[in-house]
Amino acid sequence: MRIVLLGAQGSGKGTQAEKLSAELNIPHISTGDIFRDNIKRGTELGRLVKEYADKGLLVPDEVTIRIMRARLEQEDCSNGFILDGFPRNMKQAKALEEFSSVDRAISLEISDEEAVRRIAGRRNCPKCGRLYHMVYNPPKEDELCDVCHVKLVQRDDDKPEAIKRRLGIYHKETEPLKDFYKEKGVLLLVDGSQGINDVFSGIMKALSS
Ligand code: AP5
Ligand code: MG
Repeated sequence: MRIVLLGAQGSGKGTQAEKLSAELNIPHISTGDIFRDNIKRGTELGRLVKEYADKGLLVPDEVTIRIMRARLEQEDCSNGFILDGFPRNMKQAKALEEFSSVDRAISLEISDEEAVRRIAGRRNCPKCGRLYHMVYNPPKEDELCDVCHVKLVQRDDDKPEAIKRRLGIYHKETEPLKDFYKEKGVLLLVDGSQGINDVFSGIMKALSS
């Protein structure tokens, strides 16, 4: 099963991709996670993408497409994958068609107001990457990862100005992909505004219908 997850910032792509990956036993591939990991390790790619990602701008298509083409060629993708954050515009969607087909495109639907609430409360563990939300999905001990017990951090692009810019780019460049995948007959819309487990049930139900 080759799945693309669409949805605004904070719609729960990363949260649901993690659960789907465990359920379907296929890898969760997040362009954002790949870029943040490279920034953290100070690689050449990290230095190249940092200024874009921190400001909430899209990394140039050539770079993103090259990285994803190489990633999807890896052995662990042979039975399928869950793409989180790619493709993000028409150019990337057309490029993806050249190196892989898509069986289902799942769009997690939430309002911009909810997106902002989700992003503002998001924290993650700098060690294992586990995601939390200070209100909706809080850690057991305040601000500490349940597993690693290190202090949770906020993403550099989760600042108000960058959030506004990212949502603008989503509506202008990414949302039109819903029509692109609808025309191909693979689009599934799921209400992303419910609780985490209900959204997951909604996805599983949509996938089996
Ligand atoms: P990326 O990392 O993909 O960020 P994003 O698209 O902005 O999406 P988010 O990760 O913010 O949201 P999410 O939908 O994953 O939500 P989450 O599960 O965390 O991209 C970052 C940057 O990298 C881009 O801005 C760009 O610069 C670059 N980039 C990436 N891909 C690119 C591409 N293809 N081309 C060019 N550049 C690219 O959930 C959010 C919060 O809400 C969490 O705290 C979570 O715990 C909570 N939550 C989740 N679900 C629920 C729920 N149902 N109820 C209550 N709380 C919930
Ligand atoms: Mg994410």
